[in-house]
Amino acid sequence: MKILAINGSPHGRDGNTEQLLQPFLKGADSAGAEVEVVYLKEKRINHCTGCFTCWFRTPGVRVYEDDMRELLHKQADVIVLATPLYAFTVTGLMKDFMDRLVPINQPQLIKRGDGFGHPGRHHEGQAIKEVLISSCGSPDRRVFSGLLETFRQSCSCCGIEFAGAILCPAGSLLNMPPAREQIQWYLDACEAAGREITVQAGISPETQAVLERDLIDQDTYITNFNAYIENLLANRPQ
Ligand SMILES: Cc1cc2nc3c(=O)[nH]c(=O)nc-3n(C[C@H](O)[C@H](O)[C@H](O)COP(=O)(O)O)c2cc1C
Repeated sequence: MKILAINGSPHGRDGNTEQLLQPFLKGADSAGAEVEVVYLKEKRINHCTGCFTCWFRTPGVRVYEDDMRELLHKQADVIVLATPLYAFTVTGLMKDFMDRLVPINQPQLIKRGDGFGHPGRHHEGQAIKEVLISSCGSPDRRVFSGLLETFRQSCSCCGIEFAGAILCPAGSLLNMPPAREQIQWYLDACEAAGREITVQAGISPETQAVLERDLIDQDTYITNFNAYIENLLANRPQ
């Protein structure tokens, strides 16, 4: 089984979202998956211009000579999209990547379940799964609702199975070494999810339930967060 992870954080390998992705991939690797990570911040990806050249003039071929050349040819059984929450959705890096995936589909519309979508140019009929991983600054997980719906709709449109989500509020805790021990149980659940996606049909309900628990109670987070901010502001370089 091949797992392809796309990290769309401008912080890349140093970010909070990477702290969730790494244990997930460790779990997948330990269960025998072949794992590859692409860091979008290290790639050059132009904005989609909406010209539809890749559908009508040169079907399936991107319009720019940029790093989508290699990315469009990657194949996997499971695609993991890892993005911090930006303005209640994906980052600009991830959005540009998603927009530039237009040529992997064909322009026609087909019925999929009770909705509609585009047939995959090469992947139609293949059993591909997708997992969403995200972190955010708010301690309230309801802020992920738009992001989650975007991924549900996008999978359903492309005939991809949405196999689960790891959505972690209070994400700044993920990269704080003193909090490491306190949140290890959550990172262990990320690792379990990676193992399960490799050897089972998807993330088990037990692991998913752990992944939906808060890292910290909201009031404590807000108090500590604001104290940290006040300290930063008080000690900023003049
Ligand atoms: C431009 C920008 C927009 C953001 N928008 C949100 C948001 O809508 N909701 C939220 O809770 N956090 C928001 N955040 C905070 C990030 O989601 C959070 O810090 C995340 O853990 C960063 O992950 P990373 O280190 O992997 O980049 C935003 C941060 C930035 C820089």
